Amino acid sequence: MPQLANRQVLLGITGGIAAYKSAELVRRLRDAGATVRVVMTPAACEFITPLTLQALSGEPVHLDLLDPAAEAAMGHIELARWADLVLVAPASADFMARVAAGIADDLLSTLCLATKAPLLFAPAMNQAMWSNAATQQNLHTLTARGVRFAGPGEGAQACGDTGPGRMLEVPDLVSAAIGVFAGGLLAGVRLMLTAGPTREPIDPVRYISNSSSGKMGFALAAAAADAGAEVTLVAGPVSLPTPAGVSRIDVITAAEMHAAVMARVADCDVFIGCAAVADYRAAEIAPQKIKKTGETLELRLVRNPDIIAAVAAHRPRPFTVGFAAETNDLLAHARQKLERKGLDLVIANDVSRSDIGFGSDHNEVRVISAAGDGEPQNGSKQAVARALIEDIAHRLHATRAQTAGALPAC
Ligand code: PMT
Repeated sequence: MPQLANRQVLLGITGGIAAYKSAELVRRLRDAGATVRVVMTPAACEFITPLTLQALSGEPVHLDLLDPAAEAAMGHIELARWADLVLVAPASADFMARVAAGIADDLLSTLCLATKAPLLFAPAMNQAMWSNAATQQNLHTLTARGVRFAGPGEGAQACGDTGPGRMLEVPDLVSAAIGVFAGGLLAGVRLMLTAGPTREPIDPVRYISNSSSGKMGFALAAAAADAGAEVTLVAGPVSLPTPAGVSRIDVITAAEMHAAVMARVADCDVFIGCAAVADYRAAEIAPQKIKKTGETLELRLVRNPDIIAAVAAHRPRPFTVGFAAETNDLLAHARQKLERKGLDLVIANDVSRSDIGFGSDHNEVRVISAAGDGEPQNGSKQAVARALIEDIAHRLHATRAQTAGALPAC
């Protein structure tokens, strides 16, 4: 059965150049089995015509707040009740601001207030507009109210800038819509994960770190929450918004991450170590800024605690999933980590390629278990995260069923 069969998706389109992708989005949502009705803001009509969307959706396109053609002339209420999901793509900065402020001055913003259906926004705007404190504050407000966000992605923009603010590609948006309805696979499961880098200070102004952006871990947290898990995200220093429904603990150093994880491990069913934890820290942190005194500078480093190994050794033990970020001999190193750290699964991540891994919006991974090596999975980090969460959920349930079957009868 198509994954969106019997689902009624209301697609909102706001004014932005990415609106041209919305035509394709309608087609792909319908291919996935959804019935799609389109609502456009006046600005959206400057970029793409209602006629195009009517032809592709096979339904009348809605433009006006007060619609004499609607039953009881209250189109917004009828549409708000009709929708199983309100997907706004593209969602402009102005639209996010209006919804965050509770302003209902057009059909789309009004039905966002009126609907009980989940809201999924796909932001698209210039990178400076996305990074602006006002937009980030609106994002925070909307996320805290349960609005889900798909993207934005990073890269070259229509205006010539490069950075975050691109609308996700159509297949990723369809996957995000499917993800909203896929909830339940991890219902009742308490899942903790680490994400991002750690930062190990050398003196008051310098530190040792790495280029993990946190994107993979945050995508996993969002996918796990969408699958119904109660998610705790222990995040190193990154500037990413907290996914909807996720409880976040910010840390800086590996020691802080270790303490935050170990304080909660007894209350978790699944642990995923996605953070790029510094293996070493400075043996002594200089109390003042280190001065240039010679041609060389020696730093003495000491080992940090291995967080995931400590989790796997804890009793009771959560289902424990690690990542192996490798630049060479990926599978051999991943298998060694599986065994050495006592893990249930290792996600092998080739970080020698610049198009995947650290910092990128895309990834390619393989799931390694004692039973063997999985096939490569690639795509946006959101799509990879959803596939991994589904895989982890199935393996967790299989492990639980086996354990229950092994219990002696009373
Ligand atoms: O954050 P992004 O920019 O999206 O990039 C994603 C990623 C590349 C960081 C991510 O996909 C990834 O591969 N994370 C693991 C990075 C890593 O540190 O791997 P590792 O091979 O060094 O560590 C193996 C495992 O042990 C990991 O699960 C790690 O979280 C854990 N570990 C490592 C050291 C330590 N002291 N404690 C740990 O728990």
